[in-house]
Amino acid sequence: MTSLYERIGGAQAVDLAVENFYRKVLTDDRISHFFDGVDMDAQIAKQKGFLTMVFGGPHSYTGQNMRDGHKHLVARGLNDSHVDAVIELLGQTLAELGVADSDIAEIAAIANSVRDDVLDR
Ligand code: HEM
Repeated sequence: MTSLYERIGGAQAVDLAVENFYRKVLTDDRISHFFDGVDMDAQIAKQKGFLTMVFGGPHSYTGQNMRDGHKHLVARGLNDSHVDAVIELLGQTLAELGVADSDIAEIAAIANSVRDDVLDR
């Protein structure tokens, strides 16, 4: 069975998806303020490593776990509506890159599976 990582197109597809995704995030009034002052080159690199791993590609993620990585944002009001917005923008990004609806649904489920960690509950 091929991994989700292979099905969506491997490293090149993940790179493009993460870059396009953050372009949307940074222009979305619902969530862009959480990224004020964040080093986006470092953020994009971490997100590529993280998504590659959760999609079943090679393990290269060396960042924090989801709970510790977002605690300071929960303190600033991060809630379910923001997670919903992130999942929506990721889905839009993947659809624009031609990823199959069934694969997008699988990716949304992966994002949802870390929701409680991201929101520290
Ligand atoms: C839903 C699933 C999510 C996943 C899988 C995810 C993934 C990640 C990863 C891998 C990091 C790097 C952690 C590190 O520093 O080592 C990170 C950091 C970050 N995430 Fe998320 N995230 C999610 C949701 C969100 C949401 C909903 C927001 C805000 C709208 C958000 C905003 C941020 C910000 C601002 C950082 C950087 C924090 C900093 O460097 O100060 N994330 N995220």
